[in-house]
Amino acid sequence: MHFHKFEKIWLTFGIGALVLFLVILGYGAFYLGTHPQSHGVTIDPQNVEAHEAFKPENLGLTKVDEDRYIVNVVASAFHYDFGVDADGNAINHIEIPKGATVLFQVVTKDVIHGFNIAGTNVNMMVEPGYISSMEVEMNQAGEFTLLCNEYCGIGHHMMYTTVEVYQ
Ligand code: CUA
Repeated sequence: MHFHKFEKIWLTFGIGALVLFLVILGYGAFYLGTHPQSHGVTIDPQNVEAHEAFKPENLGLTKVDEDRYIVNVVASAFHYDFGVDADGNAINHIEIPKGATVLFQVVTKDVIHGFNIAGTNVNMMVEPGYISSMEVEMNQAGEFTLLCNEYCGIGHHMMYTTVEVYQ
């Protein structure tokens, strides 16, 4: 086989660019690993209850101060656990007053899930071993859909609930 000089130059350049690209991709995907975008606060995914915030009695909405709330959530295939009400029934809906500052703290017990309150700035990836947290001011009243936007298995599309911000 015979190559012209320019063919050789371009072939070398093409292969070189491909190799460089794969090295960068490999470095980013495998060497750096994956981390939640927020700060890396770790937790044992097998035992999230050991953490104060994720004890069953501390799940869901808690008022901490005037206009300040914390929402602790344990995600798992395929629902969000907000704890239970006074009658022992699972809470599957939360109501927040408009203008409140809310700290969302979310963990997962199994696979990667998403935590997205559509129409707001709340959008987090929830990864086993990490606490995903985000503080937001809920300034818009209405009923919002909280949904999982990371494919997590056969029931992924069923993983949603509602968050109401009332006047
Ligand atoms: Cu959880 Cu998709």
